[in-house]
Amino acid sequence: MTKQSSTASVNVDACVFDAYGTLLDFASAAERCRDVLGGKTDALTALWRDKQLQYTWLRTLQGAHVDFWQVTQDSLDVSLDTLGLAEPALRTRLLDLYRNLDCFPEVPRVLRDLRAAGLPTAILSNGTPDMLAESIAHAGLSNAIDHVFSVEEIGYFKTHPAVYQLAVDRLATPANKIAFVSSNAWDAHAAAAFGMIVFWCNRAGQVPDRLPGTVYSEISDLSALPGLLCNVEM
Ligand code: LAC
Repeated sequence: MTKQSSTASVNVDACVFDAYGTLLDFASAAERCRDVLGGKTDALTALWRDKQLQYTWLRTLQGAHVDFWQVTQDSLDVSLDTLGLAEPALRTRLLDLYRNLDCFPEVPRVLRDLRAAGLPTAILSNGTPDMLAESIAHAGLSNAIDHVFSVEEIGYFKTHPAVYQLAVDRLATPANKIAFVSSNAWDAHAAAAFGMIVFWCNRAGQVPDRLPGTVYSEISDLSALPGLLCNVEM
């Protein structure tokens, strides 16, 4: 069921999506290795993601940027060590899967409907251009996304304001005319604080974070977006 905290449609000129967790299901990598991971599957997904995000924030704070592919490998290594799972073949398999993630089921239809209604679509992500291109192609979304913006263009990870400015600059559209959609509450709050119209895709049913920035609407998946942004019947 789609939950939304605001049902008023909004007038925006572009819809910009976070990638990992919003369009792409990062849990699908470990899930496809459940034959080996067994009861540690969910723990690996959670720890890998937590460490990955922590490393992005810490590296940006320290001015010690490496790209998201390096961060993804480093965070996997510490997670496999922590869970007693360090094994080269498993590591390789998980990393291959991370470059070929599944998208969430509603994503192709939502992107198609937005574009059919004349709203340009974009991704704004920590991912490298290569990672994003591979995953978008694997998910069959190459013709559904108009622009892909990677933080590699600026060398800061989210939530540095320069990341959100990148979308404003590249789209030549003011922040308050951009709908930004993220399942990551911290990303949603940061984009809202920056001035974008933010839809928090709360797939996991988390309680609201206490961070600066007010999200415009909370949705439980992306299905409501064409109706909210383009008055498309659902
Ligand atoms: C991204 C991560 C943070 O795509 O989900 O930027």
